Amino acid sequence: MRQTSKLIARPRLMNQVLQFLDEAPVTVLLGARQTGKTTLAQMVADIFEKRNRTEVHRFDLERAASRAALSTPEITLESLSGLVIIDEIQRIPQLFETLRPLADRAETPARFLVLGSASPGLVRGISESLAGRSLFLQVPGFAIDELSADAQNSLWVRGGFPRSWLASSDGASRRWREAFIAAFLERDIPQLGIRVSSETLRRFWIMLAHYHGQKWNASELARSLGASPKTALYYRDILAGGYMLRVLPPWFENLKKRQVKSPKIYIRDSGLLHMLLGITDMNTLRSHPRYGASWEGFALEQVLAITGSDNAYFWSTQRGAELDLLIFRNGMRWGFEFKCSDAPSITKSMHIALDDLCLKKLFVVYPGKERYWLHKKIEVLPLADCINPNVA
Ligand SMILES: Nc1ncnc2c1ncn2[C@@H]1O[C@H](COP(=O)(O)OP(=O)(O)OP(=O)(O)O)[C@@H](O)[C@H]1O
Ligand SMILES: [Mg+2]
Repeated sequence: MRQTSKLIARPRLMNQVLQFLDEAPVTVLLGARQTGKTTLAQMVADIFEKRNRTEVHRFDLERAASRAALSTPEITLESLSGLVIIDEIQRIPQLFETLRPLADRAETPARFLVLGSASPGLVRGISESLAGRSLFLQVPGFAIDELSADAQNSLWVRGGFPRSWLASSDGASRRWREAFIAAFLERDIPQLGIRVSSETLRRFWIMLAHYHGQKWNASELARSLGASPKTALYYRDILAGGYMLRVLPPWFENLKKRQVKSPKIYIRDSGLLHMLLGITDMNTLRSHPRYGASWEGFALEQVLAITGSDNAYFWSTQRGAELDLLIFRNGMRWGFEFKCSDAPSITKSMHIALDDLCLKKLFVVYPGKERYWLHKKIEVLPLADCINPNVA
C-alpha cells in the first residue's frame, strides 16, 4: 500500500509560487478540483511565514465563517499584513474587484495568494480586474518530476490527482475518480451557476474521451449529442473551463501549404480518460484502440506541466505532415512528437516539421528508458528525461 498520509513535496511548484509572491501583490493558483492547490498553498505559507517572519491569514470561501468575515471585504482585507490566502475564489469572484485597489497601494503591506478551480473564462471578471497586478499559475495533478521515474505507469493509468494516484489499489483509485466525475457534474458545475443537465454533460464528456487527441468537429459531435453545434461548443467550454479538457490550438506558418485550422481536444487527466473509456489497468490500456492516443495526451500534459508552458500548439497540414506539440521557450521553437512504441524511428513528417517550422530541436517522447539521437536535431527521449530545464 502506498503512503496516504505523507505529503509529496512539489518543489517546482513551490519555488514558482514563492517567486511569484516576491514579484507581484497577487498570485492566483488555478487548476481542476482536487489537484492539491490548498495543500500547496499551505506548504508555501509555512515557508513564507518562517522566511519573512510574518503572519498568514486564511479565508476559505467554502466556509460560512470566512464568507461572513469577508462580507465587508474592503474593511477586513485592508488592515491585514503578511500573507493573505483566499481559497475557493470561484465562490465569490466579485472579490477580485476588491483586490484591485488593495494591490495598487504604494506600500503593499500584504501579499495575496488566491486559489480557485474554475478558469477566468468560466468565472467572469477575474482576468480583467487583475490584469497587470497579478501572476497566474496553473496547478495540475502530480507530474513525473515530482514522483520517481518508476511511477510512470501508475501515473499514466491512474492519472495525477493526488488521491487517485495515492489510492491503496487500482480499484480504490477508480472509485475515487468515479466519485470525482459525479461531484464535478452534480455539485461543482451547478455551484458555478451553470445550468446544464449533468447527464447530458456526462454523455458529452464520454464522447469527447473517444475523440481524445483528435480535431474538434463541432457538427459531428453535435449530431451524436442531438444538439446544435453552438451547444456542443458551450459544453466544450464548460469542461475546458473546469480544467477537465484541453483545447490545443493549431499553429499556422506562413507557408504555401494548407494547414489545419480547428483545435485538437484532449481529456487532460489520463486517469479520467481511462475512467471514461472503461480502461481499468495497464493490461486493458495496452490492448485498447486508444492506447497510442492515451500516451499522446498523457505525455503532452506532462511536458506542459514540467516546462510550465502555456503557449502551446499542434501543427498539421492537409497533406499529412504533423507535429503533436510546439512550444516557445527562450525565443526558440521546440517540437514534440509522442510515440507509444518501443523504439521510435524517424519519419518524413518529422523532417518536414523540422524544416517548415524552423525548430531548434524535435523531441520524440516515448515510454521507453533509453535516450538516443535520430538526427542532429531529433532526439528520442524517455518521459522522465523531460525535466526542466534540460528541454530548453
Ligand atoms: N502534495 C501532496 N501529497 C500528498 N497528498 C496530497 C498532496 N496534495 C494534495 N494531496 C491530497 O489530495 C487531496 C486534495 O488536495 P487539496 O485539498 O489540496 O486540493 P485542492 O486542489 O485544494 O482541491 P479543491 O479544488 O477541491 O479545493 C487531499 O486529500 C490532499 O491531502
Ligand atoms: Mg482547495
